[in-house]
Amino acid sequence: MFARTRLNLAPVQFSRIITRNNAVPKCIRRLNSTKSTTPPPPPPPRSPKGKILLFMGVLALGSTVAASLRSKAEPKSAVEPTAKQTVAFPEGEISVVFVLGGPGSGKGTQCNKLVKERGFIHLSAGDLLRAEQARQGSKYGELIAQCIKEGTIVPQEVTIALLEQAIKENHDAGARNFLVDGFPRKMDQAITFEEKIAKSAFTLFFECPEQVMLNRLLERGKTSGRTDDNIDSITKRFRTFVETSMPVVDYFDKQGKVVKLNCDQPVDSVSEQVKKALESRGI
Ligand code: ADP
Ligand code: C5P
Ligand code: MG
Repeated sequence: MFARTRLNLAPVQFSRIITRNNAVPKCIRRLNSTKSTTPPPPPPPRSPKGKILLFMGVLALGSTVAASLRSKAEPKSAVEPTAKQTVAFPEGEISVVFVLGGPGSGKGTQCNKLVKERGFIHLSAGDLLRAEQARQGSKYGELIAQCIKEGTIVPQEVTIALLEQAIKENHDAGARNFLVDGFPRKMDQAITFEEKIAKSAFTLFFECPEQVMLNRLLERGKTSGRTDDNIDSITKRFRTFVETSMPVVDYFDKQGKVVKLNCDQPVDSVSEQVKKALESRGI
């Protein structure tokens, strides 16, 4: 499904640029609309007092129109606040559970179980990036390949555009419950996603010792074909996880939005913890 995804960052949903209204100002339109092709009837004769009142009225109207035109012509300040950004999926529209944890902690394994058992839509940010990298003609293929191999974080614009597109497609098809796996891996991703796409319900955090994750990844690397399941890349990924991704877990933890799981356990035992965590959050 994701191989079909087209990444087009220019018109992507982020560019909700508010253009200024170039329409003719109302006051001018009103003035124009009073123009007539037939000459007006001659004015009735006026008394001197009436003439003075009329003169004052014209003066007052003139200064009002001039002030109005002046205010329309003045350029707006660059620091003027822009229109408020709206979130793509307001509260209650969809449910998003972030799934975080070190590489090899078992996130994908548990998400796959939840898809089968609970009908969640599983969106792995890493899988979406690999699909985009493999897509013919992708502008971001090389960049993604390099980041993955080096264990660094792909610029948020790319990952968030892919996620937003995948959520929209699934939402259009009727899906409401999403597991967003391996995301957000950096603070900017966390903040942008929650501001522009949807607030997360909570985060499932997969705790696991590095040595256990290393053994699992080396084992997975025998068959995964992944360019980053090797000791060099794994070491870099661990560092990125501690330095860049853990602050995201701490950020949500401070908001009381993290449930921690002990993942140095057999798959079924972790699965039980996952189910309890979802129950405890009413999902
Ligand atoms: P992640 O998505 O967090 O990187 P995966 O779900 O791909 O991790 O799991 C990494 C490797 O570890 C896979 O080969 C998987 O089969 C294995 N694995 C996952 N969970 C467990 C577990 N609880 N115990 C033992 N091996 C596991
Ligand atoms: O989650 P997974 O291990 O599949 O991620 C593989 C790689 O994809 C990461 O090491 C990173 O380079 C990239 N990635 C990213 N931002 C994310 C998720 C993954 O840059 N949110
Ligand atoms: Mg994974």
